[in-house]
Amino acid sequence: MTHPAATSTSSDAPALSPQQWHEVSAPPAELSERCAALMPRDGVLDVVELERLALDIVADPELWQPLVIEDAHRRRYRLLYEDDRIDVWVLSWMGGQGTGFHDHDLSAVGLACAQGEVVERQMLLPNGATNVHMTSGDGRQGPPGYIHSVAHVEGHPAVTIHAYSPPLERVGQYRVDDEGVLRRSIEHGRQELLDNTIAAIDPDRA
Ligand SMILES: [Fe+2]
Repeated sequence: MTHPAATSTSSDAPALSPQQWHEVSAPPAELSERCAALMPRDGVLDVVELERLALDIVADPELWQPLVIEDAHRRRYRLLYEDDRIDVWVLSWMGGQGTGFHDHDLSAVGLACAQGEVVERQMLLPNGATNVHMTSGDGRQGPPGYIHSVAHVEGHPAVTIHAYSPPLERVGQYRVDDEGVLRRSIEHGRQELLDNTIAAIDPDRA
C-alpha cells in the first residue's frame, strides 16, 4: 500500500484524518463480496496469483471505479477486500504523488494499472533506478522483501490495484540520512507512505 499505505507528495503532508480511517478498514460489502468471487483458492497466494487477481479486478471496472478518489493533495487508497490471508486496495494518484522507495515486509504483492499511467522504479546501485511505465492492463509482481517505488505519470487520477498476501501489516520505508547512509524505517501497513526519497542523491529516483 503502500501501499496502501498511502502517500503523498512531501514529508510535511497532513496525516490521515480520523474520518478517513474507514477507507482503510471498511471495504464496501457489495464490492468485497464480488471481489471474493475472484479469489483463485484458499491460502496465501503467490506473486503470479496476486498479479492475476489484480488484473482480473482491473477487467471489471464496476469493482474498482466506485472507490476512485480524485484528491490533488494526497494519494488516496481504499480497501476493496480483506481476509486473514490477503488484502486488496484501490489507489488513486494525482500529479506529483508517489510513494518513495519501500518494501512490503513479509507480504508478496501483485499490482495492476487500471487507469492513466504510473511508473514503477527499483534501485540500481550505486546511483540510478529502473523505470517501468504501466498503463491500463499492465501488471507487476514482487515477492516478500521486494523494494520499489510507484509514482503518478498521467491521469486524473491514475488508478492502480494492489493485492498483498499475507495481508500488508508492515512496510519498510527507505531514506538516505545526512551522512549518505541508507535507512529503513518500519511503518504500519495502513499508514501513509511518505516520499522520503533518495532524491538527495539522484532526482530521477524520486
Ligand atoms: Fe509497494
